[in-house]
Amino acid sequence: MQSHYGKSIKNTQGLENMSVIFNEIYPSFGNGTNDEVALMVTHDDGTMATDLFYHSHQQKEDKNIQTTIIHLKDEKKELYVDLHFKAYANENVIEQFTTIHNKEKKEISLSQYASSAIGFKATNYYLSHFYGSHSKEMMLSEERLTNGIKSIETKRGVRTTEYENPSFMLSLDGVAQENSGEVIAGALAWSGNFRLAFQVDDKARCQITAGINPFASNYYLASGEQFETPRMVLTYSNEGKNRASINLHNWAKKYNLRAGNELRPIVLNSWEGAYFKFDADKLKSMMDGAAEMGVEVFVLDDGWFGNKYPRNRANAGLGDWQVNQKKLPKGLEDLIDYTESKGMRFGIWVEPEMINPKSELAEKHPDWIIQRQNDRQKLLERNQLLLDLSNPKVQDFVFNVVDNLLKKHPKIAYVKWDANRHLQNFGSTYLSAKKQSHLFIEYTLGLEKVLERLTIKYPSTIFQACASGGGRVDFGSMKHMHEFWASDDTDPYERLFIQWGTNHIYPPIATAAHVTKSPNHQTKRETSLKFRFDVAMAGRLGIELSPDALDKKELEFAKKAITLYKDIRPIVQFGDLYRLLSPYDDGFAAINYVAKNKKSALLMVYSHTHHRRYERNFVKLQGLDPTLVYKVEEINMDSKKLHISFSNQLISGEVLMNRGIWINLRKPLQSAIFKITESNQN
Ligand code: DGJ
Repeated sequence: MQSHYGKSIKNTQGLENMSVIFNEIYPSFGNGTNDEVALMVTHDDGTMATDLFYHSHQQKEDKNIQTTIIHLKDEKKELYVDLHFKAYANENVIEQFTTIHNKEKKEISLSQYASSAIGFKATNYYLSHFYGSHSKEMMLSEERLTNGIKSIETKRGVRTTEYENPSFMLSLDGVAQENSGEVIAGALAWSGNFRLAFQVDDKARCQITAGINPFASNYYLASGEQFETPRMVLTYSNEGKNRASINLHNWAKKYNLRAGNELRPIVLNSWEGAYFKFDADKLKSMMDGAAEMGVEVFVLDDGWFGNKYPRNRANAGLGDWQVNQKKLPKGLEDLIDYTESKGMRFGIWVEPEMINPKSELAEKHPDWIIQRQNDRQKLLERNQLLLDLSNPKVQDFVFNVVDNLLKKHPKIAYVKWDANRHLQNFGSTYLSAKKQSHLFIEYTLGLEKVLERLTIKYPSTIFQACASGGGRVDFGSMKHMHEFWASDDTDPYERLFIQWGTNHIYPPIATAAHVTKSPNHQTKRETSLKFRFDVAMAGRLGIELSPDALDKKELEFAKKAITLYKDIRPIVQFGDLYRLLSPYDDGFAAINYVAKNKKSALLMVYSHTHHRRYERNFVKLQGLDPTLVYKVEEINMDSKKLHISFSNQLISGEVLMNRGIWINLRKPLQSAIFKITESNQN
């Protein structure tokens, strides 16, 4: 049963006599409920009713983490279900997952197997969630839940977070506020199909059932086998959405994101600067420019491989991971040496789960391709098909693509892992006829196995989850990846919205944000270099243009901005993010970052529409120490004109937070950044 999920209660006297919110903690099919269920089983005798009862529990405490396992058992059958809860006290986060053990005599099948089912009682519920599509990911949508089921889900198998994200914020008793009110936030740590169902019932209760999407995924368990669900990560805040975000960021950086406590380097990625059109000379000249700007890692993107079927366009070569002799006759080592001679490290792009029909790999291993079989047409997306990661041989191949590269070139410091299609050709030549329905799940588990092996073997290589930008933004992939490419849309105006949504759940340290050319390649919008830097500096800054596209003045600006980012990077990457003005509201956006010790902070403000003559951006900062006095200094300026009526003034934390300050931004696509440093002169 579920009695309370909300603010912690120390004195629970009286609670035991109250009627419960939900009768079951893990509702199962066949016990009388007509609502969403977490578990649906066909038992070994073909029956479908399941009644789970408390069997026993275990609890252990390890400093910050309390682990509880509640063992449940079906009343009649030898079906055991363990609910695992990992509570992180400082971060106010609970991770929940479930293991289902088949101790029945014969095989059973699972048609629903959620990670968690949590319930609340309030007068009304407002759901914030994130939707989009390629180049417009993580758009924020806020809506009141009405009776019935609202479900956030994907059935796409791969690039699962491109359209909807497996995360949410639920506000109880009113529209979500940034800094007040009860909010439950959560995200599923899984890079496969997901389903988060929000059911408001006739008693105005809300139940969230979250986990793998069981769509086309009946899962068979032989006697003695068990199934483990992915983790659902949940947090609670009674100080609004912003605290919920900070809780998730804190938890991710400490316990989930790979190397979440290490500063991220500034990269220059070759994609928008060169696309497929490069040779060694072009890359070296880009490296010269990158080094001059102060970039730390040069990343060679798509187009470096394939010989029989050279990768000169997106129509050939995927699968043939040998260096293209024509473009790069001296191989990668020559480029790596050159990068290092310039004081940078080298990174490389791969897309090892994928295959072009025009490739040597496709000729050699047609059976490794995910396919509908019976000679049905193979449906292409970006001219490519998907390798069948449910097959251990394919897992080895994918592992070897990266392992061979890193073994041969141990100086490769960064791997950008792309994935540019979904899983629509549903069918596996590896899985048995009966277990075809395991494909969606086994694919994701296969990917996890490969990434786990690489993580162990290459602990210090940086990995980026790219997936067309925004396609693998989930806590599951972040266990193995240091960062994600948030979107292929690099227009800074659009990025204000994309990063706004993304950082509701996922931390800025993991959010790769690149400065690209103007007019922007995706939207054709023109923006100043300063605006582009000011937006990208709110995440893990990178550059994605050919440095020779910048004139002398721009190059100087870029150099200074990069030097500046190196100085402020610990605040962005390790600090707390506060959302001050939403880009969705009034044509302004503002955020501030505060270092954990509250001695330094950053204020970033943006105007993206035209404003009335006297309308100014007015912001009240958050998270500072009210007892401290701070120096407020405008930084990253491209002219002498300040956007504030003072600079280097001393202002108390109380004034900055309670009274607020005017920022003089009125025109579209203008921005300003301020460094706020504790002053000892008070
Ligand atoms: C999609 C990615 O999101 C881009 O950054 C780039 O790597 C291309 N793929 C390369 O094909």
